[in-house]
Amino acid sequence: MGGEGFKTMLEGKRIVVTGGCGFIGSHLVEVLWKENGVIVIDDLSSGDLKNIEGFAVEFHHRSITEPLDDLFSDVDIVFHTAASVSVVTSVDDPRHDARVNIGGLLNVLETARRSGVGRSIFSSSTAVYGRARFTPITEEHPTEPLSPYGLSKLTGEGYFRLYHSLYGLETVCLRYFNVYGPRQQAHSPYSGVISIFSRNFLEGKPSTIYGNGLQTRDFVYVKDVVRANLLAATGGKEIVGRVFNIGTGLAISIKDLASLLGVPAEATVYGPPRPGDIRESVSDPGLSKNVLGFQATVTLEEGLDRYLGWYGAELERTGEG
Ligand code: UD1
Repeated sequence: MGGEGFKTMLEGKRIVVTGGCGFIGSHLVEVLWKENGVIVIDDLSSGDLKNIEGFAVEFHHRSITEPLDDLFSDVDIVFHTAASVSVVTSVDDPRHDARVNIGGLLNVLETARRSGVGRSIFSSSTAVYGRARFTPITEEHPTEPLSPYGLSKLTGEGYFRLYHSLYGLETVCLRYFNVYGPRQQAHSPYSGVISIFSRNFLEGKPSTIYGNGLQTRDFVYVKDVVRANLLAATGGKEIVGRVFNIGTGLAISIKDLASLLGVPAEATVYGPPRPGDIRESVSDPGLSKNVLGFQATVTLEEGLDRYLGWYGAELERTGEG
């Protein structure tokens, strides 16, 4: 993953990354470990140790629902990316989702408060909005989640904000739109559309577009999401206690995405619409631009290029190519 180094603005800090072996968490770890002491907490339920291979970090195989006090002394920053990540699982087992995404999150926050952590940043999701009533979606858009996952993310935001207003803990919430990039799992039925289409494309298999393909999404490259986290960790008081959309502000239809990926029309089949699928999703990036100072810089073309490059190399490395 060369050529993507950027100044983190963080040096000599003690940083906890919950979910540091996961897709987004491991990218954070990757930019932080050289100049900071990084403590990774992960129960490896969806993350993988190979995602942090070669990074000198302190790894703890532990769930965020377990006591964490011993890991939080002298910690400056917590990036809370650990979660039960599947929307589908949350529908099947809402109690498990809440145990991790609410109970575990509260455990992280409370430990941070008791340990005097400087700042905590929460990886939230566009799932908190539910069906778009208007686009682009601003942070003021109604929050009417359609899944236990969306509700637990919204509740998590509520705790992060409350811990700021009630206890003065510095917290920032980031609502990610559709994140994609290297290390995103491509083999799970819950994988993102980009990883699924890319896998099919590289394996010469057809891809299925659910519905008419005119539904839109706002795809944001994982390195941009890392930058948003770093800005959230280093920004001034004006960002504290707030929630920011993290997207590009650009919508693309799934049909156009398939052709941008180079999937030939004859390698695309259409299937019935996915139940509960959201038609339109695109962020209003205004607040994050003006207050957080964040703007996505990686275009979809460039991001897809990098992703396909990484994926092709992975297939060769693992002998699946
Ligand atoms: C995304 C998030 C999810 C979040 C939701 C909130 C990902 C992977 N998932 O779901 O965690 O709760 O936003 O709105 O980022 N599609 C196809 N063919 C496929 C796979 C997908 O046509 O093989 C279509 C889907 O029907 C959908 C679009 O592509 O319209 C995007 O799907 P997906 O990548 O699963 O993300 P979201 O549904 O937006």
